Amino acid sequence: MDTSIIISSDHKNELLNAQTHIWTHIFHFLNSMALKCAIQLQIPDAIHKHGKPMTVSELVTALALSPTKAASLYRIMRLLVHSNFLSKSKLVNGEETFDLTVNSKLLLKDHPMTLAPFTLALLDPILTEPAHYLASWFQNNDESPFHTAHGIGVWDYAGTEMRFNEYFNKAMASDAKFVGDILLGNIEFKRLFEGVGSLVDVGGGTGTMANAIAKGHPSIKCTVFDLPHVVEGLQNNGLNLDYVGGDMFEAIPSADVVLLKWILHDWSDDQCHEILERCRRAIPSKEQGGKLIILDIVLDVENDNLRNVQLLFDMEMLSLNIGGKERSEQEWKELFMKAGFNDYKFYSILGPRSLIVVYH
Ligand SMILES: C[S@@+](CC[C@H](N)C(=O)[O-])C[C@H]1O[C@@H](n2cnc3c(N)ncnc32)[C@H](O)[C@@H]1O
Repeated sequence: MDTSIIISSDHKNELLNAQTHIWTHIFHFLNSMALKCAIQLQIPDAIHKHGKPMTVSELVTALALSPTKAASLYRIMRLLVHSNFLSKSKLVNGEETFDLTVNSKLLLKDHPMTLAPFTLALLDPILTEPAHYLASWFQNNDESPFHTAHGIGVWDYAGTEMRFNEYFNKAMASDAKFVGDILLGNIEFKRLFEGVGSLVDVGGGTGTMANAIAKGHPSIKCTVFDLPHVVEGLQNNGLNLDYVGGDMFEAIPSADVVLLKWILHDWSDDQCHEILERCRRAIPSKEQGGKLIILDIVLDVENDNLRNVQLLFDMEMLSLNIGGKERSEQEWKELFMKAGFNDYKFYSILGPRSLIVVYH
């Protein structure tokens, strides 16, 4: 049977554009893999150390790679130029040189705000594999695609697999350092700590954010509260800061301020309700100086760039967590009201994420 069909030239163009669109989405993950490869090979660090743009052959020598890999390395470099991680120029002899952009400078391992640990952790197979199981998870009864991939939940996994626990916590610490450096100079953020006597960072990881706050505000008694395997053995290095191991679904230490950075998007509405009610009980009223500070995504409907990364992050939450998701402003407000808070303010001062201050 002849199954060929006659296609108009307009429709042919449409079909070819659709094919290009599909190919782009099929291979998009290779942008991530090229980036991972560059960080693992320490390409940005080598260019930085060189002090000026590098040719591929200089890079091959600096990275101690076999000269037989030069042409392949060039292809990685070419893609990284295309994805704005590198810039390219030409020497007088016509040879191409590659330099860092603002994007790759943030991936230098010694940059004070480096996002390299975060990038490598999020691209580790432990965290990317669950996304391969999205369809299976829709059809099975597992609690999350992470469960389908690894048999247990992500936080239990971190409690048993020490290598994962370590690099996940380092990833979070690198993000917390980045966010802290951006926020601590912000006037609105600074004002939140005026008159505050105590703060607890719930799910505060290894304490990077709380350490920065304790350094900037030595009179504030800071507590980092996280699961025991996260805070075990951590020292306060002379700061006004304590580490407390526990489960936020059982109890949250009392303080003037509770900080929830990147916590609520890990959980379902019902679980957020539980956490938020506990937070409300842990802090005094607004009149008495109590406040809950949340750092999380608020889905943006207007800015297409932000929306893209926010929707991707929402998929990440779907893959990793039981009921985790990104929320719109309306969804956040409903959560706050339901948990007994009556006042809140949203500040769009953190790119894809927002600062939200909530009171009762
Ligand atoms: C996405 S990480 C955020 C870490 C840190 N707030 C940051 O943004 O850098 C979530 C944190 O919640 C902690 N966590 C998960 N379940 C918890 C529980 N039941 N009680 C306390 N902390 C928990 C994890 O160990 C992890 O450190």
